Amino acid sequence: MSATASAPGKIILFGEHAVVYGRPAIAVPVLQVASRVTVEEAESGVHVVSSRGSRTLLPGDLNGDDPIAAVLRHTLSAIQYPGFPNITITIDSTIPVAGGLGSGAAVSTAVARAMALHLGRTLDAATVSALVYEVEKIHHGTPSGIDNTVIAFGRPVYFMRGRPIEMLIVPRPFTLVVADTGIASLTKIAVGDVRRSWEAGRERFEALFDRCGDVARRARALIEGGRPEMLGPLMNENHAALREMGVSCAELDTLVGAAITGGALGAKLSGGGRGGNMIALVKSGTEAAMAEALLRAGAKRTIVTEVGGSFQV
Ligand code: MEV
Repeated sequence: MSATASAPGKIILFGEHAVVYGRPAIAVPVLQVASRVTVEEAESGVHVVSSRGSRTLLPGDLNGDDPIAAVLRHTLSAIQYPGFPNITITIDSTIPVAGGLGSGAAVSTAVARAMALHLGRTLDAATVSALVYEVEKIHHGTPSGIDNTVIAFGRPVYFMRGRPIEMLIVPRPFTLVVADTGIASLTKIAVGDVRRSWEAGRERFEALFDRCGDVARRARALIEGGRPEMLGPLMNENHAALREMGVSCAELDTLVGAAITGGALGAKLSGGGRGGNMIALVKSGTEAAMAEALLRAGAKRTIVTEVGGSFQV
């Protein structure tokens, strides 16, 4: 008997970094990429198999910092499983690692779900989100909680730290082209650098965070009001604020510039920054040409995604 579960990637549409400091942000699932995990019976111990290699976890490893051991620990506790299971966990993910698309949170989500299913239980999205948040703390210290929320729920969210989760209503879907700089960038490092800059210049950074929060609020009104084609200037404004925070880089700026020159309605980096991915809002029907333009400008790969769907587990 085996159990399989999946989780999507994600992009932050508005408000990354500022969300760590209590401002609102908007994130949406990216259904074109996913982590898929299968859990099956093993003779003894927990075996983890992925494209990055295989390893075995023993009961003594459960309290360590290994992210899969941490998912195991929190999932066993959530389902009140009394012992240590004998299982093989096979991870298969098409979400690029360290690209700002939530690969860590998606793997954790899929592992938690598949493991619970294999052990005869199902976990609701809020429980999965809470336990993945605990694991995210290991990955990057002070996560806001937006990544685990959007990925566990698999739907667009309007997120504010410490507030009840609000799903974003998207009456008119819209199209984004996501382009990868190919530069792996750890969110933890960008978040740590922003924290140091904030400590050194609180007034300036609080004002930048306010700007991003304001953009996220206005963006929500446009999306929920069915006017997503008007989001472009807000994306440009958000990118400018992120540049001022020091989390963009030459490659991201080049792709954002190429998107605008190529006719995008707006463009910005997405996620932790310093590499990873950017997003461009395009008029329906122009996505293929925009993807081409971004590849010509140096993107390593592109994904076309429509905002407005939800992920079926
Ligand atoms: C990462 O996807 C988004 C950040 O705002 C970090 C966080 O919210 O935890 C950069």
